[in-house]
Amino acid sequence: MTDKKLTTTAGAPVADNQNSLSAGPRGPLLMQDYQLLEKLAHQNRERIPERTVHAKGWGAFGTLTITGDISKFTKAAALQPGAKTEMLLRCSTVAGELGAADAERDVRGFAIKFYTTEGNWDLVGNNTPVFFVRDPYKFPDFIHTQKRHPKTNMRSPTAMWDFWSLSPESLHQVTILMSDRGLPTDIRHINGYGSHTYSLINAKNERVWVKFHFKTMQGHKHWTNKEAADIVGHTRESTQEDLFTSIEKGDFPKWKVQVQIMPEADVGKHWYNPFDLTKVWPHGDYPPIDIGVMELNRNPENYFAEIEQAAFSPSNIVPGISFSPDKMLQARIFSYADAHRYRLGTHYEHLPVNAPKCPVHHYHKDGPMNFFGQQTGSTDAYYEPNSFNGPVEDKSALEPPLAISGDAERYNHRDGNDDYRQVTALFNLFDKDQKARLFTNIAEAMWGIPDFIAERQLAHFKKVHPEYEAGVRTALEHMTRAKASEATRQQKMPQGAQAAE
Ligand code: NDP
Ligand code: HEM
Repeated sequence: MTDKKLTTTAGAPVADNQNSLSAGPRGPLLMQDYQLLEKLAHQNRERIPERTVHAKGWGAFGTLTITGDISKFTKAAALQPGAKTEMLLRCSTVAGELGAADAERDVRGFAIKFYTTEGNWDLVGNNTPVFFVRDPYKFPDFIHTQKRHPKTNMRSPTAMWDFWSLSPESLHQVTILMSDRGLPTDIRHINGYGSHTYSLINAKNERVWVKFHFKTMQGHKHWTNKEAADIVGHTRESTQEDLFTSIEKGDFPKWKVQVQIMPEADVGKHWYNPFDLTKVWPHGDYPPIDIGVMELNRNPENYFAEIEQAAFSPSNIVPGISFSPDKMLQARIFSYADAHRYRLGTHYEHLPVNAPKCPVHHYHKDGPMNFFGQQTGSTDAYYEPNSFNGPVEDKSALEPPLAISGDAERYNHRDGNDDYRQVTALFNLFDKDQKARLFTNIAEAMWGIPDFIAERQLAHFKKVHPEYEAGVRTALEHMTRAKASEATRQQKMPQGAQAAE
């Protein structure tokens, strides 16, 4: 028995939550049964728009603990030696809808919200250090190729490979996607990467460039396409089950946190542009430095409130951590908060999961669902400047000037870029079996696309390594022969036997 009384949302007691109010036992219902009307109306509003990308996700809370010392590079409180910061990690697949199966070949999102004492710092990365495109103009086009075809309402391998083969900058990410790491068993066994170049700013207001890495301490685990198909046949929630049950039984996943640091003056010294999201910084040039550990140790109490309503944005930076000229990052600084205002509403940052855990003072006013009133701490301070003790700006958060130059122009982002060299380095990391799986995965993903598109893509593979092109070509030929002999076998079978198969 419970001592809690059921009430309406207005707090009045509910006498009957089983039987509707009708005229006679079989009769029509009365409009007066407002409790039924409210119940149905609430149900009609239970869904919010799913994320336009990364709709299917899994998340948990935890702690970032800093053990290293990079205080000479950054004044960020959360990155000082010994700092412990509460955080939320939401991982996701990119293309699938909210109900998609977990065990799909796709990049995994790796979005972290650090609730620092200086405001929320969001690092919205992936399990890959690079991305498919380097100019944000291409992001919506790329995503269209991953989503459903307007007529068939099915995913379209033709669209994917058409776009990729016309966009050589995608080759690095495509190779990772088609390799073992493109189909991880769960999120405890993946690395996370901030991917973009960001900046760190120290107490003397000096800037260095930085890349963030989160290395799984559980090791890497992946499925083959065949294994994943079997898993999906059994459960569509394999990642959710793995994460939730691990944390529930106290087996807390951990990631080693690393940074690569580049002096500001090194820009222009390398053959690669350090702000190009399709490139890594080779470890030989900039060795990773261990700075701490991130641990997940608490499951959300309510998935919708804490994971579905979580809003991550690369625009959320804190003093000591800032942006870089990366064109993709610059576009993302706009895109996410805009998406949240559409998906969650104007005041999404006041939802408990998104609310900073430090004092918040701003002059934004009113708006739909404003349940928090004035955030200035003073009734008469509702504009700025004012004489009524309202919050004032903090000059200590000023960043050092960023030297930029050049004519405003639509520069061809493909000019002068070597899209193959780092892919060759990656290809050379793979052993014989990893390469064989890469070739088969690509052949399976390419199956059925027009020959001219396949040939255009094969030409890119050849520029990475002749063995890459030859391997995929052979895998495609093997599939053609296998499909042809399967078709012949089916034709030769008596009709009843075919149906029974
Ligand atoms: P390194 O040999 O120093 O670094 C190789 C990196 O590749 C390691 O971080 C390793 O990650 C990762 N790696 C190892 N095996 C695989 C795999 N099967 N699939 C994907 N990644 C793998 O060389 P470089 O720094 O010069 O990089 C060489 C290539 O490695 C790059 O062109 C890039 O494609 C890839 N890479 C580079 C990263 C970087 O930041 N420099 C990060 C990730 C990949 P782990 O430690 O987890 O095994
Ligand atoms: C989600 C836009 C590139 C990682 C999203 C969302 C949008 C978006 C609109 C949905 C947000 C929401 O509704 O909550 C863009 C644009 C990009 C871009 C415009 C390029 C110009 C990237 C890159 C990465 C990335 C390069 C990783 C390095 C993510 C992740 C999520 C996400 C992890 C899910 C966040 C969550 O868990 O809520 N993106 N994106 N995106 N994006 Fe991007």
